[in-house]
Amino acid sequence: MITFKSEREITRMHEAGKLLAACHKLLRQKIKPGVTTLEIDRFVDEFLIAHGAKSEQKGYRGYPYATCASINDEICHGFPRAESLKDGDIVTIDCVVNLNGALADSAWSYPVGKISTEARKLLNVTKKALYIGIAQAIAGNRTGDIGHTIQEYVEGRNYSVVRDFTGHGIGRNIHEEPQIFHYGTKGRGIQLKEGMVITIEPMVNIGTWFSLLDDNGWTARTVDGMLSAQYEHTIAITKDGPLILTSQDD
Ligand code: MF3
Ligand code: CO
Repeated sequence: MITFKSEREITRMHEAGKLLAACHKLLRQKIKPGVTTLEIDRFVDEFLIAHGAKSEQKGYRGYPYATCASINDEICHGFPRAESLKDGDIVTIDCVVNLNGALADSAWSYPVGKISTEARKLLNVTKKALYIGIAQAIAGNRTGDIGHTIQEYVEGRNYSVVRDFTGHGIGRNIHEEPQIFHYGTKGRGIQLKEGMVITIEPMVNIGTWFSLLDDNGWTARTVDGMLSAQYEHTIAITKDGPLILTSQDD
């Protein structure tokens, strides 16, 4: 069932989103060689609690951490680790904030120290894929318009779009309908309407999109060991177009 949000509910989700965006902006400074993703996880957990919020991911279907921290060939749902990040790594930090019952979801890929040109290009293409997808998130368009636009852009640059994980509606629950595929056919899928709140969160791989699940039952990684990146925003469909609730202003 698709749930529609009132202006008031969207404002509350926007407050949650602003807090998550502020947290991500702090991570830009914090993420560097020598830091561990467990330290990052603890920082995010404590930052949210200090601001009267909490991580909605912790305990979600038994997920044990406040954040997902996916390094290099990990696509998503990486477990935070006690191992130090190394110069040249890329790491995606994903978190869902709950602020007084209102949720917002955003993932961001970060460079660790000095990264290769190849990795930098992947980050740029993935972030661009998110924003061109968001531009399609307008009332009257269909979910397929978002997916098609992202797929065409990404594959046109010889990268691949992960198929096994998608964006989603979000409201009282992290995952609501509709599912937002990052590939697809123009004009197909569910029609977007004012009051819907969705995530768009393309995961883009340098090699094939095929993924493998780790023994922990959560972490997905590329089968070929090549890099994967992800950027995710929570977006409200409004009469004035897409409103990015988790905007960091870029
Ligand atoms: N933020 C993730 C998403 O976009 C949620 C992951 S669920 C968790 O769907 F349990 F792994 F946290
Ligand atoms: Co999400």
